[in-house]
Amino acid sequence: MTDDAATTAHIPVLLVEVLDLLAPGPGERFVDGTVGAGGHAQAILDRCGPDGRLLGLDADPQALQAAGERLRAYGERVTLVHANYGQLGDVAPAQGFAPADGVLLDLGLSSRQLADPARGFSFQGDGPLDMRLDPRQTDTAADLVNHAAPDELQRIIAEYGEERQARRITQAIAASRPLHTTAELVQVIDRATGGRRGQRIHPATRTFQALRIAVNDELGNLERGLNAAIDLLAPGGRLAVIAFHSLEDRLVKHTLQRESRDCICPPRAPVCTCGHQARLALLTRKPIRPTPAEVARNPRSRSARLRAARKLGTP
Ligand SMILES: C[S@@+](CC[C@H](N)C(=O)[O-])C[C@H]1O[C@@H](n2cnc3c(N)ncnc32)[C@H](O)[C@@H]1O
Repeated sequence: MTDDAATTAHIPVLLVEVLDLLAPGPGERFVDGTVGAGGHAQAILDRCGPDGRLLGLDADPQALQAAGERLRAYGERVTLVHANYGQLGDVAPAQGFAPADGVLLDLGLSSRQLADPARGFSFQGDGPLDMRLDPRQTDTAADLVNHAAPDELQRIIAEYGEERQARRITQAIAASRPLHTTAELVQVIDRATGGRRGQRIHPATRTFQALRIAVNDELGNLERGLNAAIDLLAPGGRLAVIAFHSLEDRLVKHTLQRESRDCICPPRAPVCTCGHQARLALLTRKPIRPTPAEVARNPRSRSARLRAARKLGTP
């Protein structure tokens, strides 16, 4: 491994905890919807050998290639598909992975994607305003920044970035368009917000997160992916999801809570009219967070929150 590769190598987050919850057993079938560099996938394959199988999806063909190299030794036990986990409901049955014994979603970006300025995800370093996970997609962050109506841009930055200065930042962007590079955008945000001024996080953090979520429809895909994953699980099958920001985690928490309840009528409804039936049992009441030792070893893990559930029914 070169020095460069060593510093950007992706370390799987909450690995021990994920394995405890997914509990892979011999011969079982797993779906990793975010296979990335294949770290979690490899550990799952080691646990479900000698004949357990894994389907790995990634929206990013570069990530899929890295996973292919890492998992080559597992031969036909691994199937890799360039796809969005929002399409899990079509891809998994087509590949013979329905029902599945476990599904993992490790959301967000890998260290490698973040570290590559050419991808435009990071406000450190300079690169094109791209931010697409999947190059087949046409709209980039530059399209959004330069062509979205200011109201829409402000909504995106406020809602997806949870940025209190969204109005000010949007006005500054609108006055400086067109912007082509991440460094240009950082400069505009710095000027609009008065720079770092003792803040804990960089002033561009929230805007970059918002644009990335919008460009990749992260929340829409997560909602589709979670519902498909729950449908896909065999009775007794396990779902584990690692979220890295509060919008993702909220969606995961609400979906798992809703699917673990027999009635989802409004709390004041006198009688149940929804007919909803629980499909899941929660395996985590509160999200699992990395230990201080893991955060020290892998700072990228610091915002990770892991939630898991088991599909109801007898296997
Ligand atoms: C945090 S990394 C996963 C790392 C992996 N668990 C490992 O141990 O190497 C997240 C991966 O999910 C992919 N990804 C993000 N959103 C996706 C989506 N909607 N569909 C498919 N892949 C997605 C990213 O391209 C990235 O490779």
